[in-house]
Parts: sequence; structure tokens; C-alpha cells
Amino acid sequence: MRDRLFTDASVAVLYDALCAGRQDFDFYLPLVMSAGSVLDVGCGTGELLCRARQAGHQGRLCGLDPADAMLEQAYAKTQAYAKTQAYGQARAYATGHAHAKAGSGQTAIEWVLGDLSAVSWEREFDLAVMTGNAFQEFVADDALRVALAAIRSALVDGGRFAFETRNPAARAWEEWTAEHAVEVLDATGAVVRVAHDVETPCDGDTVHFTTTFTSPDWDRPQASRSTVRFRGAVEVASFLAGAGLVVEEQYGGWLRQPLTDTSPDIITIARRR
Ligand SMILES: C[S@@+](CC[C@H](N)C(=O)[O-])C[C@H]1O[C@@H](n2cnc3c(N)ncnc32)[C@H](O)[C@@H]1O
Repeated sequence: MRDRLFTDASVAVLYDALCAGRQDFDFYLPLVMSAGSVLDVGCGTGELLCRARQAGHQGRLCGLDPADAMLEQAYAKTQAYAKTQAYGQARAYATGHAHAKAGSGQTAIEWVLGDLSAVSWEREFDLAVMTGNAFQEFVADDALRVALAAIRSALVDGGRFAFETRNPAARAWEEWTAEHAVEVLDATGAVVRVAHDVETPCDGDTVHFTTTFTSPDWDRPQASRSTVRFRGAVEVASFLAGAGLVVEEQYGGWLRQPLTDTSPDIITIARRR
């Protein structure tokens, strides 16, 4: 489940640049801002919660991720921001799965290293989010069931869970090719080329791919093998129902377009029953 994309510091440091121009936060940020307490599952570099705090969110913000290199980026952001603001920080991940609320009361962001099998929150959050297609990291059915059950437990009665997953019918993996490689700058300003290569045969259900990072300024390329699971809307709703979460809203795009067969994403807001 954990690949070098997220656990290697030299690669994780590129993540935010690779996500430049993302539209999903225009959808998620208002949800976060209107919720008193928020859990971000698979928070990665913590960008969403950091933006929420900077936008004035006053309540509890907690980011959970098993990848230390990604969480290190999140922590660095809160540290940098703390230097300019009266702003708390947490370094819960330094001690593994333990989580702590350090910093100045409700201005702290909790960063928790681990996954949902390592936590036991009970009715603590008004909203849980899972952004950046982190939902697709749950490849095995049992892993997804465990995760959804833990998310339901973490939500207060009537709490909401918002997430997206790529629509398998849109076949996004067909564009994960060398022709669609992108270039970003690393921390030293070196140009890094990032290219995907999908393993064949590809059944469009469980997709294995390699991401290769190359730079003229690096000694050698870096490569990471990943696996993601594609699930359609009916399957998603079925897993949610099995976990005691009912689909309340579903969209096919970040501007809340209706979900169709060709929508790129399946964006769901579910509520704890
Ligand atoms: C594509 S990144 C998305 C990060 C962030 N949510 C965003 O929107 O930018 C996927 C994240 O899911 C995390 N992840 C992988 N397996 C996970 C699990 N079992 N539980 C929680 N997070 C997981 C990875 O470490 C990675 O940070």
C-alpha cells in the first residue's frame, strides 16, 4: 500500500508542485470551513488543512497518513506558518502512531502518522475527507471495509464523509504514458521529469504503474511502483452502505456537475447513519 511516491523524501517534496492548479480544494475547502472538527484521511502533505487554518478555521483539524515523508511536508508547512503567526504545531508522528495535540490549543493541527487500523476515534469529527484519490489506495476489499468502518466510528452522529475516486469508465490510466510526462522543479531548482508507465495487461480494475523521476541534476533516476483500485459508483455506494454510511450527494466534477458515465471523477458526500 505504501509506495516510494509517498515515503521517499526526495519524491514527496515534489508532490505539491505536481498538484499545482488542482481544482478539488475549491470543492473541499468550503466543506472543511463549515465543519467544527475535521479528519483528513490520507492527508499527504497536509495542504487542505493548512489552507483551512490559514483561512481562519478555528476548530479541530487532524491529518492522518502512514507516509512519513508526506507528513514531514505537512509539518514543515505548519512550522513555517508558525514563524509568522501565533500558531500551534503538532509533531505527533515523531512518536509513531501516538497522536497528540501540541501547540496553542485549537490553533494546532494534529498530524498523525499511521492508518485507520491504528486509531480508535469515536464520534470525534463532524467531517472526514479523503482527497487526491486516496480512496484508490485501498486496493483490497477488506482494507476498504476496515477503513470505512473506522471513518464511520470517527464521525459524530450525522457526520459527513467527503471523498472522490476516479471513474473507471473514464479510463484515466490510458493517459498515464510517457507522452503525458510533466516537469517540476525540486527544492534545489533542478528540473525533474515525471512520467508514468502502466503495466499491461491492464484490467481497469486494479492498475499497477511505475512513476519515474529523472533530472539532469540527479545522479540517477528514481522510480516508484504503485497500485490503485478503480471502483464504480454502484460499488462505492455498496461499500459505504455496508459501513453504515449513506450517499447523500454525488457529482461528476468539481463544479458539482451531475455524475455521468463519462465523468472523470465520482465525488461523494456520505453521512453517518
Ligand atoms: C495521492 S496522495 C493524496 C494526498 C492528499 N490527500 C491530497 O489530496 O493531496 C494519497 C495519500 O494516501 C496515503 N495513504 C496510502 N495508504 C493509506 C492508508 N491505508 N490510510 C491512509 N492514507 C493512506 C498516502 O500515503 C498518500 O499520502
